[in-house]
Amino acid sequence: MSREQWLFTYDGFEPAREGLREALCTLGNGYFATRGAAPEAHADGTHYPGTYLAGGYNRLKTDLAGRVVENEDLVNMPNWLPLTFRLEGGDWFDVRAVTPLEYRQVLDLERGLLLRTVRFEDAAGRRTRLEQRRFVHMGDKHLAGQELVLVPENWSGRVHVRSALDGRVVNAGVARYRQLNGQHLRLLVAEEVDPETLLLEVETVQSRLEVAEAARTRLFVEGHPAVFQKTLLQEEGFFAHEFTVTLTEGQRLAVEKVVALYSSKDPAVSEVAMEARDALKTAPGRFEELVATHVQAWSHLWRRVDIELELDGQDEQRVLRLHIFHLLQTVSPHSIDQDVGVPARGWHGEAYRGHIFWDELFIFPFLNLRLPFLTRAILRYRYRRLGRARQAAREAGFQGAMFPWQSGSNGREESQRLHLNPRSGRWVEDVTWLQRHINAAVAYNVWQYHRATADSEFLYYYGAEMMLELARFWASLAQWNPVLGRYEIKNVMGPDEYHTGYPDRPGPGLDNNAYTNLMAVWVLSKALETLHLLPRERRAELLEFLRLEHSELARWDEVSRKMRLVFHQDGVLSQFEGYEHLQEFDWKAYRARYPDIHRLDRILEAEGDSPNRYKLSKQADVLMLFYLFSADELRELFERLGYPFEPEMIPRIVDYYLQRTSHGSTLSGVVHSWVLARSDREASWRLFNEALSSDISDVQGGTTPEGIHLGAMAGTVDLLQRAYTGLEVRAGVLHFNPHLPQELKRLKFSLRYHKHWVEVELTPTVLRLTGLWSPLEQPLEVCVRGECLRLQSCETQELRLA
Ligand code: BGC
Repeated sequence: MSREQWLFTYDGFEPAREGLREALCTLGNGYFATRGAAPEAHADGTHYPGTYLAGGYNRLKTDLAGRVVENEDLVNMPNWLPLTFRLEGGDWFDVRAVTPLEYRQVLDLERGLLLRTVRFEDAAGRRTRLEQRRFVHMGDKHLAGQELVLVPENWSGRVHVRSALDGRVVNAGVARYRQLNGQHLRLLVAEEVDPETLLLEVETVQSRLEVAEAARTRLFVEGHPAVFQKTLLQEEGFFAHEFTVTLTEGQRLAVEKVVALYSSKDPAVSEVAMEARDALKTAPGRFEELVATHVQAWSHLWRRVDIELELDGQDEQRVLRLHIFHLLQTVSPHSIDQDVGVPARGWHGEAYRGHIFWDELFIFPFLNLRLPFLTRAILRYRYRRLGRARQAAREAGFQGAMFPWQSGSNGREESQRLHLNPRSGRWVEDVTWLQRHINAAVAYNVWQYHRATADSEFLYYYGAEMMLELARFWASLAQWNPVLGRYEIKNVMGPDEYHTGYPDRPGPGLDNNAYTNLMAVWVLSKALETLHLLPRERRAELLEFLRLEHSELARWDEVSRKMRLVFHQDGVLSQFEGYEHLQEFDWKAYRARYPDIHRLDRILEAEGDSPNRYKLSKQADVLMLFYLFSADELRELFERLGYPFEPEMIPRIVDYYLQRTSHGSTLSGVVHSWVLARSDREASWRLFNEALSSDISDVQGGTTPEGIHLGAMAGTVDLLQRAYTGLEVRAGVLHFNPHLPQELKRLKFSLRYHKHWVEVELTPTVLRLTGLWSPLEQPLEVCVRGECLRLQSCETQELRLA
């Protein structure tokens, strides 16, 4: 496989696109992440260096237009990157102040390295070659490193090198949030540990999270320890070693900076500063040794997660790997003890403040079939916050557990109450917290994890309790309508965030959102099913502990059979009650008037109008149902409710909503590509490609520099692994029903199902399955378009598809 397909190469320095590069070139290991900013860069409008600890949150209050708002943010931690130089008599290196002869930045996905090569000439005519390498260690989560190599091409003389830790950072990565207080850190300690090591310790001002960074800098000339003079530079929050070395033309100076980062959130920690100091004492002496173990850790991960594609272009393969790369930099085996969820925007920037939304719904399918122990760990993030969710339900007048739309440190609702419309400059009421459907996503995730793994211990001790408390919540939300003889769910929002309420009704909230109502039915029915999956004793314990009486279970069953769905006159499932009576939107006029209409909510608000008046959606809402469920599953749900279900109506519904969607969320392309995968391969492939370019091309107009879109990234991988292969898990059997887009000549990946490892290779005409590992005497049962087989360990079976 060509190395090219593992490399993201950027030639030339482009200030306007630097923010995007920095986000896409972020390096991380699931424990912490650092943006791909140049080591000499400051936050200056072009660059934004940022280092974020997974789950490292802090709350701050801001007085905004006479109202005090509190926000919980993912904190920008001290910058460990600064490693720069100046040639004798010159200024500190700034690529904008020299003549670049060559400039190349490469993100090596296979090895998890960020490389930069610059050849430049300064005002004095000195030509210098600069090479940089960087890693955030995938094996030892606390370590990161940088190497800077300087070669004077036509001069000899002195060079000054500065290696620093910068604690003067604030949260200022998202322009829209800049009016909010961003000073999250307080400096605790700045200390020179020994002649080559500096230490900086900070504390978050509200959550009192202590973070220590220690940096060790070593210099080598032609591979041997360098002779240098050294000084120590200390300003408030900034601490640096400066070295002066004399080089002769052609000599190679290598500066190696190794950093250890610890936080008081870590397990097995006594005192963070001591841990960071000790980690550097025991870390291998040379950069190269650390690179070797880092690359090895990545190679072990890639073996489990790579997807090989064969098609005419090369880019799809590379972008797909970029997506998998960022997924694993956000969630890795290091997440397990970290008590974190999956943040919608990765640990890559400050967008959405590092919060956890429903996006896990799009991310877990990838993990379930590869590294299910990661899903397990992340579901425990929710389980640990069940107490808060119970409290939230109680306070809102409901029962059971109500998880927040946006979750951070302790599971409290962290959705902002006001948001800035950058188009109008107005602070607008934000009611997106009304998306109660997050509580269906959590249940769906528990269920899917169990289906993929059969991890009964998890279900007995954590999963079942969550399912039951969620069912209890949904049942309490449902109100009986005696006139219609149906249950209804009122005052919520669906996934389409453009609709927040009715144009002629005061207050936020919509009634009978089809997605919410049907998901509630699904949760209730699965919670009842879960009870039957439990051993008798555990079931009795849980019923006792949760005080679940038979009468309550009977009500769940009833609600799950009498929930209301609203249909338009012509039978199309209505997004919510009243949608049909909204005005049609003039798409043509708006497309002509605005070059980019992804964010119609902002456009309309700026015009003094509101999306609430129109039939338009930000993203898939009703169509989410076709994304999450197969036609058979949907038929079952409709039949349970006594509504007719005609599979022929699916294309009509898809077409209806697709025409009325602006794709204002990157999740939208994934869902629409999925629902079209069978009926319109061409359109599906086009949308798949649009979803692939979401981040590399920053299609939402400037949002990627603030953080990647992890749901869309995982969603594209999942489209290949499940949608186009027709992969489904039913009653303990793996089903395939492939339907490859015409452009795709071959697809190869391995997956984990229950305890089996299987390699799947698919062409338009052949499906080849190899059992990589199965538990003894337990072959894997597979059905391919109805033809079933048993696959043993180390066995390959081929099925003709055409
Ligand atoms: C989308 C949500 C999503 C959130 C975080 C919003 O723009 O509308 O569905 O959960 O972004 O990715």
